[in-house]
Amino acid sequence: MDLGIAGKIAIVAAASKGMGKAVAVGLAREGAHLAICARGESELKKTTREITSSTSARVLPVVADVTSPNDIQRLVKKTADEFGRIDILVNNAGGPPSGLFNSFSDRDWQDAVVLNLLSAVRLCREVIPYMQKAGGGRIINIVSVAAKQPIESLVLSNSIRAAVIGLAKTLSIELAPDNILVNNICPGWILTDRLSALVKKRAEASGKSFDSTLSEITTTIPLHRCGTPEEVANLIVFLASERASYITGTTIQVDGGLTKGLL
Ligand SMILES: NC(=O)c1ccc[n+]([C@@H]2O[C@H](COP(=O)([O-])OP(=O)(O)OC[C@H]3O[C@@H](n4cnc5c(N)ncnc54)[C@H](OP(=O)(O)O)[C@@H]3O)[C@@H](O)[C@H]2O)c1
Repeated sequence: MDLGIAGKIAIVAAASKGMGKAVAVGLAREGAHLAICARGESELKKTTREITSSTSARVLPVVADVTSPNDIQRLVKKTADEFGRIDILVNNAGGPPSGLFNSFSDRDWQDAVVLNLLSAVRLCREVIPYMQKAGGGRIINIVSVAAKQPIESLVLSNSIRAAVIGLAKTLSIELAPDNILVNNICPGWILTDRLSALVKKRAEASGKSFDSTLSEITTTIPLHRCGTPEEVANLIVFLASERASYITGTTIQVDGGLTKGLL
């Protein structure tokens, strides 16, 4: 299938590692040119080199923290200056800390809102005018199955991901006349550094080993394994493509069957 992505310009936020990186690689393989961001410069440059040495994509690495409005404005402006247009935005960020409700202060809640909701709001605000000018676009938010089915000890994620879905659904309606399609992806348990950190914390809290804690998690997944970042990226690349032209306002899980709800 020709996805029609060749020559498109994408911003993939939080993309030096994990799922963001896999999305950047996937889009580059389909012929898109990209801006990618993260806070850590060396990993970001390493990822840029990996992508440019294995594809013909042009990649603009921008050291930026998505919790900073100034960094977001700089990221979007540099992308537009470099490539002249923006067609695809993949909203991603680090995850909020794990813990029970009682362990979090107002400040923790505010930080999580800034990291996982306001970052998407601000990136959309900056990018939408370019998409309107280009006659359309794709916005894809990486959220979590936590939005569909709460995950133990992840009250911040369980709460704030749902707000992103509300944002995306609203934007999908408001931006439909501009041919800007907005969708959410809900990863389940995906093999990344974030997953390792969560499993380590859960193992320490229960006094169990890392491996037995991970195996307790995988037994709850109908496919009996964690997913790979590439398995999540495959769907995001499709949604970013011309072939996904009638899909907007959806929230799709990539979770090996973990989510138990019917819809
Ligand atoms: N892995 C899972 O099982 C899973 C499941 C559901 C949802 N999620 C969510 O999906 C998102 C991505 O997770 P992942 O597992 O791919 O994480 P990861 O492997 O830990 O990678 C996170 C990436 O985001 C960057 N980043 C973190 N905070 C940032 C910030 N404030 N500004 C800019 N870049 C930032 C990191 O680079 P720097 O640290 O250098 O900035 C890194 O490139 C997270 O929100 C996570 O909670 C993960």
